[in-house]
Amino acid sequence: MKKFLLINGPNLNLLGVREPEVYGTVTLADIERETTAYAAERDVLVDCFQSNHEGALIDRLHEARGIYDGIIYNPGAHTHYSYALRDAVSSIDVPTVEVHLSDISTREDFRRVSVIAPVCIAQIKGKGKAGYGEAVDVLLAQVGGF
Ligand code: DQA
Repeated sequence: MKKFLLINGPNLNLLGVREPEVYGTVTLADIERETTAYAAERDVLVDCFQSNHEGALIDRLHEARGIYDGIIYNPGAHTHYSYALRDAVSSIDVPTVEVHLSDISTREDFRRVSVIAPVCIAQIKGKGKAGYGEAVDVLLAQVGGF
């Protein structure tokens, strides 16, 4: 059975109440439950992790080495500036898909750049929670499976 790690970065714990006009009313618990269920139908086990702390996220990425077949990662605002998280992703040799609920390419200028996307196998944006399921499919196509 394949194992994927779902990571959500800073402020994503507040989904549902945070800027619903941008992110909708879906909660992090909804995303974790639905992504886990979607993956389970495809014979994939998903572990979930969220943190508001850069160091905790780096540690979790390091721990993914040799354990997970893929990572689904919404880095939140770290997307736009964290070279430390970019280096963590590029250090671990686990295929990673970057996901954003909103379409960062049509928002403020600072959101249009992702320093993490170049070390990911794909970036999915603007599809709301469906983007997480799509990331499962992208990873499965990459690592073999459905
Ligand atoms: C986000 C987009 C980021 O720019 C923002 O800082 C977030 C959420 C998204 O899912 O659309 O926290 O990653």
